[in-house]
Amino acid sequence: MNLDLLIKGVTLPSGATTDIAISGSRIVAIEPNMKAEAAQTFSFEGCLLSPPFVDPHFHMDATLSQGIPRVNQSGTLLEGIELWGELKEILTPEAVKQRALQYCDWAVSMGLLAIRTHVDVCDDRLLAVEALKEVQKEISPYLDLQLVAFPQDGFYRSRNARKNTLRALDLGVDVVGGIPHFERTMEEGLRSVTELCRIAAERGLPVDMHCDETDDPNSRHIEQLAFETINLGLEGRVTGSHLTSMHSMDNYYVSKLLPLIAEAEVSVISNPLINIVIQGRHDNYPKRRGLTRVPEMLDYGIRVGWGQDCVLDPWYSLGTADMLDVAFMGIHVAQMTSQADMLKCYEMITTENAKIMELENYGLLPGNKASFVILDAADQVEAIRLRADRLMVVSNGKIVAKREKKVTELNLPNRPETVERKRS
Ligand code: FE2
Repeated sequence: MNLDLLIKGVTLPSGATTDIAISGSRIVAIEPNMKAEAAQTFSFEGCLLSPPFVDPHFHMDATLSQGIPRVNQSGTLLEGIELWGELKEILTPEAVKQRALQYCDWAVSMGLLAIRTHVDVCDDRLLAVEALKEVQKEISPYLDLQLVAFPQDGFYRSRNARKNTLRALDLGVDVVGGIPHFERTMEEGLRSVTELCRIAAERGLPVDMHCDETDDPNSRHIEQLAFETINLGLEGRVTGSHLTSMHSMDNYYVSKLLPLIAEAEVSVISNPLINIVIQGRHDNYPKRRGLTRVPEMLDYGIRVGWGQDCVLDPWYSLGTADMLDVAFMGIHVAQMTSQADMLKCYEMITTENAKIMELENYGLLPGNKASFVILDAADQVEAIRLRADRLMVVSNGKIVAKREKKVTELNLPNRPETVERKRS
């Protein structure tokens, strides 16, 4: 066997210890104690070998723009959208591209190798679409980037948004987006869901809509999204992002809605960092968390992923491209603290998100893409607890990031001089 890369002694998410052999861009074997020669061999005893992180909900046209032209003072979604409007006036393709490429560097360093980004199509120039199409091509050897045509200011509400959404799809944007709760009326929102789903069905494209990102329990566009999914035969290809209004809905209504979402095979993306910051802003005390009903959805067999949504942009002033941060926050806000729930949360930032993005040849199996991350952690729960260092990131058989283990030197009486970072 002609091996390019052999990595020894790693721990799989199943807990098994193994070696992994790579030839070209593919995994050729995952077996313990392999006796093989390779161009490069590394040992990472006791470290977790994970499939790469996947972020199915992001805004790359806005990322790393914080402070341009000003920061969001109220912290609300509406001020964020207003601020984005100001930023759009002064965007240049070069700046969008440069910031996106910088973010992709951060992502790779964190083992994040697939991102679905919404891209605003309300600007008649489609400047961000053009810039991100270039980025998509440039980074394709090491990072899968999917683009969603996103009429941020409303498919009907914003002049030309309908026409521009179609233009963006003609340019090869991969997914149909929408924002029904931001249309002028509930009715118009429902119509936008229907038309956008029809467009997706006609073009054979997946749908991923910002849906009911509000604390209003009467914002019920998800029902229409599930209905149209079944109506148009789009089962398995439609995603509802956010669904925060479900947090506040009447429980009886939700008991009817959850089986409908399951029947339609609509996937859900919850964005815990941004939801916990933005939802409940109009509440006095008690303040709602506003996250959608993740554990209840999982109980119904609905596919749910965690997304990042924003990093250093008009909506969110923090973030590092680290999906472990996202899972950490999700575990807290959804109170998913059992061992089984925390393992599920890890799957939600890896394999479940990969299924939502319909990624091919993803995962730790012979024949699949040799794309993975090695973490300075014994298992998935420890990885989340430590937001563990990524010691090596491999994409399509190439080592794209490496980092030494961190050791803290202590200077304390009667204590060891150095310690590893709180590993078990
Ligand atoms: Fe979003």
